[in-house]
Amino acid sequence: MGQLDGRIALVTGAARGIGQAIALKLAAEGADLALCDLQADWLAETAGKVTGLGRRAECIAVDVSKAAEVQAAVEKTEKAFGCIDILVNNAGITRDTFLVRMSEEDWDQVLDTNLKGAFLFTKAAARGMMKQRRGAIVNVASIIGLIGNAGQCNYSASKAGVIALTKSVARELASRGVRANAVAPGFIQTRMTDQLSDELKKKMLEAIPLGRFGLPEDVANVVMFLASDASSYVTGQVLTVCGGMVM
Ligand code: NAI
Repeated sequence: MGQLDGRIALVTGAARGIGQAIALKLAAEGADLALCDLQADWLAETAGKVTGLGRRAECIAVDVSKAAEVQAAVEKTEKAFGCIDILVNNAGITRDTFLVRMSEEDWDQVLDTNLKGAFLFTKAAARGMMKQRRGAIVNVASIIGLIGNAGQCNYSASKAGVIALTKSVARELASRGVRANAVAPGFIQTRMTDQLSDELKKKMLEAIPLGRFGLPEDVANVVMFLASDASSYVTGQVLTVCGGMVM
């Protein structure tokens, strides 16, 4: 028996990286999945693996920064599965550059995807969760939202915003049986971090007490905990998954 048998989960940015690992972990524990990403055909790989685990997968094309698309994605999920028990706001982007070179577009794109996207999905899914008096929201933040980083004003502000959003939602929805928590990953090996220079990677490795970069599965395991009843007395919290980089 899986910990999430009979539960319905919606994961954004599920086509690859951390989002794919989260979807597969939740499926392995018994959840059926609404898989959301910019293009539905990018989700074929994740969907194939979810169905390979014996779970149902619904692929939904959605830009998380567009309110109408988000509302439609939530409605499609509720129509296909009946409800949403677990929402994982994982979709995120970077547009790194130093403050003085950062364009308004760099700022808006990152804030719209990372922060506004989480707000829109939370708002759209909250109605059903409140009605059924059950729900777990897990937002994927970043340690950069806690400690900041040169070259990432937009990204750090978006992730700090995600953390604050998580806490306000947790306070607002607790009495309705809905929990909201965040994970703050450190350096996780995905396409997003593959773009960094070898020199920067070496420097970061020296700052990680556990002596290795994280894997998407390391994050997925913690998301699984926060999504499941194992964390039923945990809300409004930020769990760092960073090999001890931030304590
Ligand atoms: P990734 O770039 O491999 O995957 C991100 C996914 O989000 C992609 O499938 C992409 O198509 C999707 N996406 C991007 N914009 C979207 C939009 N507007 N609407 C719908 N989908 C969209 O990234 P990765 O590394 O898997 O990151 C996932 C999350 O984890 C992000 O929120 C990121 O900020 C966060 N994170 C990643 C860390 C890392 O070291 N890789 C560290 C800390 C946080």
